[in-house]
Amino acid sequence: MEKISKELSYEIWSVNELPESAQKLLERAHANASKAYAPYSHFYVGAALELSDGRVVDGNNQENAAYPSGLCAERVALFAAGAQFPEQGGKQLAIVAHTAEGPLAEPAAPCGACLQSLSEYELRFEEPITIWLGGKDKVWCFKGVRQLLPFGFDGSLLP
Ligand code: THU
Repeated sequence: MEKISKELSYEIWSVNELPESAQKLLERAHANASKAYAPYSHFYVGAALELSDGRVVDGNNQENAAYPSGLCAERVALFAAGAQFPEQGGKQLAIVAHTAEGPLAEPAAPCGACLQSLSEYELRFEEPITIWLGGKDKVWCFKGVRQLLPFGFDGSLLP
């Protein structure tokens, strides 16, 4: 038996010390969260994806009375980017979540399906995306999806 350890790392930033581009992207994610369609969960997620050319693609969760037909904010943004700008990848992605009381105190990690979609997007454009998870006062920063999903499924295994 061999035991293997793998190290994951991320940074914790205070909201008031963020680089300007991250601050702007997080503000946009908050604006997107306030436009989410989440009448069932009352959990409002906003995403803002900055592409390589600086353009920003928005996303927020879109729920459905048939629950599984809804989609998370991150995938709404990623798939919109893939559909509209198929020639370029992403630089940074900001994600925030709100309840009726406002932004969550602690950052919320994306669900597994969104991480897998993000992994595909990174591999497709061969470019790791900086991911900013925003809480009320603190922001977590991950340099690439591998820091959140170390063993994401990779299409290179398919026949
Ligand atoms: N949600 C997201 O938008 N992103 C995630 O990564 C996790 C969950 C949404 C889906 C659903 O509309 C609501 O949050 C509650 O799960």
